[in-house]
Amino acid sequence: MARKPVMAGNWKMNNTTGEAVVLAQEISNRYYRDWSDKVDIVVCPPFVDLKSVYNVFEFDHARIGVGGQDVFWEKSGAYTGEISPHMLKEIGCTHCIIGHSERRTMFGETNEFVNRKAKALIAEGLTPIICVGESLAVRDEGTTNEFVTAQVDAAFAGIEEAQAAKCIIAYEPIWAIGTGRTATPEQADEVCRVIREKIEELYSKDLAEGMRILYGGSMNVGNVEGLIACPNIDGGLIGGAALKADSFCDLIKACM
Ligand code: 13P
Repeated sequence: MARKPVMAGNWKMNNTTGEAVVLAQEISNRYYRDWSDKVDIVVCPPFVDLKSVYNVFEFDHARIGVGGQDVFWEKSGAYTGEISPHMLKEIGCTHCIIGHSERRTMFGETNEFVNRKAKALIAEGLTPIICVGESLAVRDEGTTNEFVTAQVDAAFAGIEEAQAAKCIIAYEPIWAIGTGRTATPEQADEVCRVIREKIEELYSKDLAEGMRILYGGSMNVGNVEGLIACPNIDGGLIGGAALKADSFCDLIKACM
C-alpha cells in the first residue's frame, strides 16, 4: 500500500513569535502548491507562536499543517500551565506531537500520559504524532525492539482501530536526537518494521500497512534519501534541520 509521506518540523523551544513568523514566511515562499499532493507537511512551533505561524500559511493558502509539541488531556479547568486539544483545534492546529523523549526524560511524561493525550487529541479530531524510541543504554542492552513495542502497546491501549488509523508514529532513537549521530537506514527501518508488526498484532494488517511511521533523529539533507528509501519509513520528524527554511524544504523535496 502506498503511504503518503509526512515531513514534520519540531521547532522545540526555538523562535520568538517574530522569528517564527519570518521562518514560516520563508517556508511558505519556497512552497509549491503541488507539494502537499505528495507529502503531508507539518510544523510544530512553540505554543506562543502557533497562531502567528498558522496565519502565515493560511494567508498564503499554503497547505502546511500546524501542530503543538505537547498537550494536556482535559478540555479546560484548573491545570496551570497546560493547553488542551480543544484550544489547539480552535487556533487551527491539525496535529500534535506527544511522548517526545525530551518530555519523557525531562518532564516525567509516562506511557500512560501519552495514551491519555492520544485519546484526547483523537476525540478533538487532531492527529497525534506519537513518539517512541530507546536510549543508548537500551540499545546496547539489545532490548530496543521490546522497549519500543512496549511504548507502542501502551500508547494505543484502549484506542479502537478506527481511531488508531488517525495516528502517526515517530520512531526517534534518543541517542540520535540532536547528536548528529543518525541511525543507519537499516537500524531505523528495522525498528519501524517491528513497530508496524506490533500495530498489525494490535489491530490488523490493513491498519499496519496504512500507518505512517516516521524517523526522527539528526535527519538532514545528507542522510534523508537513504532513510526515506526504506520500506517502513514514511517521512521524518525533524528538529535542527527544520529551523532553516532551506534545509526543511530540501528534506520535504527529498520525499517527492
Ligand atoms: P534533531 O533532528 O535535531 O536530531 O531532533 C529530532 C527530534 O527530536 C525531532 O522531534
